[in-house]
Amino acid sequence: MNHSAVKPWAGRFGEPTDAFVEAFTASVGFDRRLYRQDIAGSIAHARMLARQGILGGKERDAIVAGLERIRVNIEAGTFHWSEALEDVHMNIETALTADIGDAGKRLHTGRSRNDQVATDIRLWLREEIDAMLAGIDALVSALLDLAEREADSVMPGFTHLQVAQPITFGHHMMAWVEMLERDAGRFADCRRRANVMPLGAAALAGTSYPIDRGQTAAELGFDRPAENSLDAVSDRDFAIEFTAAAAITMMHLSRFSEELILWSSSQFGFVELSDAYCTGSSIMPQKKNPDVPELVRGKTGRIFGHLMALLTLMKGQPLAYNKDNQEDKEPLFDTADNLRGALRVFAGMMGHVTCNRERMRAAASQGFATATDLADYLVRQGIPFRDAHEVVGKAVAYGVQQGRDLAELSLEELRRFSPAIGDDVYAVLTLEGAVNARNHLGGTAPEQVRAAIARKRAARQAAAQPPNSA
Ligand code: ARG
Repeated sequence: MNHSAVKPWAGRFGEPTDAFVEAFTASVGFDRRLYRQDIAGSIAHARMLARQGILGGKERDAIVAGLERIRVNIEAGTFHWSEALEDVHMNIETALTADIGDAGKRLHTGRSRNDQVATDIRLWLREEIDAMLAGIDALVSALLDLAEREADSVMPGFTHLQVAQPITFGHHMMAWVEMLERDAGRFADCRRRANVMPLGAAALAGTSYPIDRGQTAAELGFDRPAENSLDAVSDRDFAIEFTAAAAITMMHLSRFSEELILWSSSQFGFVELSDAYCTGSSIMPQKKNPDVPELVRGKTGRIFGHLMALLTLMKGQPLAYNKDNQEDKEPLFDTADNLRGALRVFAGMMGHVTCNRERMRAAASQGFATATDLADYLVRQGIPFRDAHEVVGKAVAYGVQQGRDLAELSLEELRRFSPAIGDDVYAVLTLEGAVNARNHLGGTAPEQVRAAIARKRAARQAAAQPPNSA
């Protein structure tokens, strides 16, 4: 079949496209996903053309009604997508003309697929960013609840994965809240730069029709039209920014996953993930595997890959539009789909985590986690910190040899290392004493954890209020 007869650009061609080239260059298999944005952009464009007197009112009405019918057909699954028509834009435009006749052919006045596709992706990405922000918000909300429940549950804090100092589980959860809030900030920031309208740039230089880009931008909810036509059709840095923000978020979720995987092992036994978020083994009946965090950790790899793919896609392109840009979509779509999924599953999972307070406590009281507190105690008795460090190091070596933690040594034993130690030392050697002592902004004391949760909740409530409702 001679497909080239139907191609909107076939005028200057004498021969039909090679069948494999047609398949190789087509993007409709994946960019059809942009149909809603494509139709919205076309409707806004047609209305603007009519208001500017470039298109008649009747033609505009036929175009708008025809595009809306196409949307209904696509959503009902009755639209026929054709690879010969290359991409989502030409499929929809050709169907429109088949439906309404010549008026359909006038839609592409003062426009090119170059500004059209750039507009579609920005519209699509804007919605995706909002979905990511909602996903982060739901996860933060689950973490705040968990942090509140476990505000004074003591666990060992680690450095080098060695027991370092006692902390509270709530404090640990609030560390993740901080990271996720920065992630949300990156998405919000990216949204501001993405929400700029390319339409009107046409192929690359603008158009000779008296268009009004402000009208189209306002109708489509863009903050403003792009300032430079060459930049508008060729820039994809907004997509790179989105993928970078997604990669950083996934890096956080991957680290968090790693902790949950360790903590839910029988060696740690700090937490139990709900059965709904785990799977079993087909051969080992005793197994309950943390598949969800493992898969999130695993998916992080492809998103890092997509970031590298997009950076590499852009690095060699001269201005303005090049067909290379068609390759921007699959990495973007896959990034958004997987991050959206990871956030959703994480929020659900963290809403159903059970902490084993006894196991966490036992682990904290085994690793000499209060050694720093003993050193600080000696400093309060007038001993320089470096000397105190030395004294405590010797006491720890003794405890290791005895198989007993510092709090389990008698006063007489402790005083062998320093006569400055009195019986009030046990107050600092307890886990509660150690966490309660770190009672300043940013510290692990339960009181500080509760204050931090309260501040987050207040800020979230304030952000949820519409700006003018004083
Ligand atoms: N499918 C193309 C893309 O995704 C649309 C723009 C094509 N423009 C062109 N001049 N070939 O980038």
